[in-house]
Amino acid sequence: MHYPLIIFSIFNLLTFSFSSSSAQSLSSFSITTSPWHPSQNRTILSPNSTFTAGFQRSPTSPNLFIFSVWYSNISHDHTIIWSANWDSPVHQSASLIITSNGDLQLINGSSGPNLWNTTTSMRSNSSRLFLRDDGNLLFGNSWESFQHPTDTFLGNQTFVNGTVLRSRNGKFRFTELRNLVFDGGSGSGSDTYWSWGNGLLSLGLDGQILTDGGNPIFCADYGLNRTRRLTLGDDGNLRVLSYDPGNRVWVPVWVALLEICQVHGLCGPGYICYSDGSTLSGYECVCPPGFRRSRGSDSCEIRNPIVDMGESKFLRLDYVNFSGVSNQTSLRAPNFAECESRCKRDRRCLGFGFKYDGLGYCVLQHGALVNGYWSPNTQMVFYLRVDNSESDPSNFTGMSQVLDTTCPVQISLANPDDESDGTTRNIIIIVGLFAIEIASGVLLFWAFLKRYVKYRDMAQTLGLGLLPTAGPRRFSYAEIKTATQDFSEANVIGKGGFSDVYKGKLQDGRPVAVKCLKNVSGGDTEFWAEVTIIARMHHLNLVRLWGFCNEKGRRILVYERVSNGSLDKYLFRSSGTESDGLEQKPILDWNIRYRIALGVARAIAYLHEECLEWVLHCDIKPENILLGDDFCPKVADFGLSKLRKKEQLVTMSRIRGTRGYLAPEWVKNDTITSKVDVYSFGMVLLEIVTGVRNLFQGPSTVASEDWYLPQWAFEMAVEEKRIDQILDRQIKDSYDDKVHFKLIERMVKTAMWCVQEKAEMRPSMGKVAKMLEGTVEIMEPPKPTIFFI
Ligand SMILES: *[C@@H]1O[C@H](CO)[C@@H](O)[C@H](O)[C@H]1NC(C)=O
Ligand SMILES: *[C@@H]1O[C@H](CO)[C@@H](O)[C@H](O)[C@H]1NC(C)=O
Ligand SMILES: *[C@@H]1O[C@H](CO)[C@@H](O)[C@H](O)[C@H]1NC(C)=O
Ligand SMILES: *[C@@H]1O[C@H](CO)[C@@H](O)[C@H](O)[C@H]1NC(C)=O
Ligand SMILES: *[C@@H]1O[C@H](CO)[C@@H](O)[C@H](O)[C@H]1NC(C)=O
Ligand SMILES: *[C@@H]1O[C@H](CO)[C@@H](O)[C@H](O)[C@H]1NC(C)=O
Ligand SMILES: *[C@@H]1O[C@H](CO)[C@@H](O)[C@H](O)[C@H]1NC(C)=O
Ligand SMILES: *[C@@H]1O[C@H](CO)[C@@H](O)[C@H](O)[C@H]1NC(C)=O
Ligand SMILES: *[C@@H]1O[C@H](CO)[C@@H](O)[C@H](O)[C@H]1NC(C)=O
Ligand SMILES: *[C@@H]1O[C@H](CO)[C@@H](O)[C@H](O)[C@H]1NC(C)=O
Ligand SMILES: *[C@@H]1O[C@H](CO)[C@@H](O)[C@H](O)[C@H]1NC(C)=O
Ligand SMILES: *[C@@H]1O[C@H](CO)[C@@H](O)[C@H](O)[C@H]1NC(C)=O
Repeated sequence: MHYPLIIFSIFNLLTFSFSSSSAQSLSSFSITTSPWHPSQNRTILSPNSTFTAGFQRSPTSPNLFIFSVWYSNISHDHTIIWSANWDSPVHQSASLIITSNGDLQLINGSSGPNLWNTTTSMRSNSSRLFLRDDGNLLFGNSWESFQHPTDTFLGNQTFVNGTVLRSRNGKFRFTELRNLVFDGGSGSGSDTYWSWGNGLLSLGLDGQILTDGGNPIFCADYGLNRTRRLTLGDDGNLRVLSYDPGNRVWVPVWVALLEICQVHGLCGPGYICYSDGSTLSGYECVCPPGFRRSRGSDSCEIRNPIVDMGESKFLRLDYVNFSGVSNQTSLRAPNFAECESRCKRDRRCLGFGFKYDGLGYCVLQHGALVNGYWSPNTQMVFYLRVDNSESDPSNFTGMSQVLDTTCPVQISLANPDDESDGTTRNIIIIVGLFAIEIASGVLLFWAFLKRYVKYRDMAQTLGLGLLPTAGPRRFSYAEIKTATQDFSEANVIGKGGFSDVYKGKLQDGRPVAVKCLKNVSGGDTEFWAEVTIIARMHHLNLVRLWGFCNEKGRRILVYERVSNGSLDKYLFRSSGTESDGLEQKPILDWNIRYRIALGVARAIAYLHEECLEWVLHCDIKPENILLGDDFCPKVADFGLSKLRKKEQLVTMSRIRGTRGYLAPEWVKNDTITSKVDVYSFGMVLLEIVTGVRNLFQGPSTVASEDWYLPQWAFEMAVEEKRIDQILDRQIKDSYDDKVHFKLIERMVKTAMWCVQEKAEMRPSMGKVAKMLEGTVEIMEPPKPTIFFI
């Protein structure tokens, strides 16, 4: 179900009904031009023609009309930003009239109730209806559409407590400046599924969302001169959409919920909302194993009703979370077995959720299975109660493989819980197919490994058929051959020890980058699992994985192609060789550099904190930061470090990454944590500011054997307070102390914290993003110490 797509195509259908050349446009509607029927081709234009108001065919009932305001010049989809009678469309003989005592009335046919309430305090028959350049429709002396928004909120509009946005399908509301609410759960009333810390006040013209008492939030296209709107979609997500005039589409530049399935009420009772990650808004409602779509109502029902509660069993659903407002009992269970038996003893218990984080999180589900969703973000396993005779296998698997998608990190066990009994105390993080073993007390790690191998082989012989069907697309080798014109040399865009990359075009016209992996270890199931996980990480600033190919020993990943190449090409321009004019890239200005830094920081924070702590990147460098349209940064190559041949790890060295960006831990044999990425990012940040590659050359005046970029930058920018001395000389001239100082100072100070030699001194990536945003105070950084490999 891709609701936005459906809506857009409905708008496309609408277009032709407005192609009349005999249209009459008014500057305002007054008693002299009253009445106004939908059959007349009339519109009101705002003074500079940005907005139009008038009757439009209703997208839901094309024979009826709604009185609306839309963007005049975004003609291919007539984006409606406001309408008077969305829920009560009228016939073509309806009339909009101004009565002799100054009331505005919208009447269906010749009589009937007024469908448009515009009571104004001072009525007069000279009241006019007119449209302002900011999209506000005004009538008389006090009525304005900005105070009665429908599903959209515009730049010059101010939210006050009491303003409500409502999705067009009427299912969702945005209220009290901060809450997203689902209406009409089965009798349970309203249900808030998202809440903003500080209330929303307005949408700034440059792409900031101003909040009540809090810091502003920046959209992904912050700083660009773009048309933006904040819209509550029919899928219950709140988005800032920005109009891209080049491609003539609205693109989301900020979303309230990154995971669409966390919206309540998208799927009926019993369903699991499942987002395959192919778009930010795509999702499916699937029934859990052992359940089927019930006839007559939008819900899933159990296939084999449980005959004897005592004889039921549980199906394991990895990463699935159900939540009911009133139908859950939350407990702290010392171990899995305890949680399971609590549910088993309870006849009303439909299943339970358990979290393998050592904190004893255990939730019993009663009454109904509602708001189920699948997400790798929830480190939870849901055990669904089914009859003993149920033979459906669980097709929600994959948690064990997550441990494999990491850098070679030692799995650290949490501290033993004193209250727990001896059989389970040490096993906390180990998850996967082994839950049953965990419960019955298998302790030793070698046993874990032996079983792991056994299960892996078992899974392989079972084939891939049992794995969930939704997920990254599987391409055939022939398809990829066609897309890359038989891997022609002309299409090579990168060659390396680990992979070769080709550009190509799919049959549907999408440009792709095709990455052929070399020396990949592991079985097919493992590869599949890893690829699935990569494909499910989605963020505006991560390169999307669309699919893969795994045929005849060839392992190929198919990514979206990012248009503008990698950041290094822009930062480090080989000054001597002007001859290769082909490679000449524009110089990035300060605002774009700042947006790149922020975007990359957010993407990595997402990998570290919002995916799962142990998804590290391990190879952050300008080559792996690609620039899309408008130089929107997209981080590439994440999740790949574990696909590399495991033998390399043993025989060569454990080091992953690239010289110059490696954190000291790699060399010093310390534990590898997410802070290695923070270090690499700090280096990149300094390079973005200085335009100097950290390892290879200092600026000619200071180049010497022991030149170390962070230290040099620290001395100049922090100790001597001469920030202008370290700026990229290519754009030094465009540096304006008043405009850019704060921005650049934040970048430099943040970088200084990131490149601290001691990992524990470095902030987490989430904090780094906040430091760059300016939403937390940045303390004076200590001087980075010299660190040489
Ligand atoms: C309105 O436009 C339609 C074509 O879109 C045309 O057939 C019709 O005659 C026009 N009506 C008026 C009143 O101009
Ligand atoms: C609408 O677009 C046309 C060209 O596409 C342009 O000439 C015109 O100025 C635009 N009008 C507005 C109000 O943006
Ligand atoms: C207006 O009239 C048409 C046809 O007479 C009807 O289909 C439509 O439902 C009416 N709209 C409202 C809001 O009553
Ligand atoms: C508007 O009202 C004034 C009196 O308030 C009256 O004289 C005038 O005729 C009215 N105009 C129309 C068009 O009804
Ligand atoms: C208009 O307002 C009246 C009273 O305030 C209310 O009863 C009626 O339902 C409103 N109509 C619409 C279409 O909102
Ligand atoms: C119309 O006015 C609005 C508000 O001042 C402005 O943002 C927009 O750029 C203007 N459009 C044109 C085409 O001048
Ligand atoms: C924006 O809103 C203010 C206050 O309501 C108004 O004075 C101004 O004219 C509006 N801007 C435009 C472009 O209409
Ligand atoms: C808005 O009003 C409601 C109730 O009137 C109140 O609970 C809420 O805190 C208010 N929100 C803000 C942001 O002031
Ligand atoms: C933004 O773009 C519009 C139309 O593209 C232009 O009229 C306006 O002057 C631009 N504003 C700024 C501040 O650059
Ligand atoms: C939740 O539980 C209450 C009482 O246990 C019950 O009355 C209600 O129907 C349940 N709600 C749903 C949606 O099952
Ligand atoms: C499950 O979902 C509910 C509601 O969305 C949420 O409050 C809870 O934290 C989730 N549990 C886990 C373990 O993610
Ligand atoms: C799992 O199986 C059920 C029933 O067999 C099916 O409805 C559902 O779509 C499957 N889930 C996934 C994620 O493929």
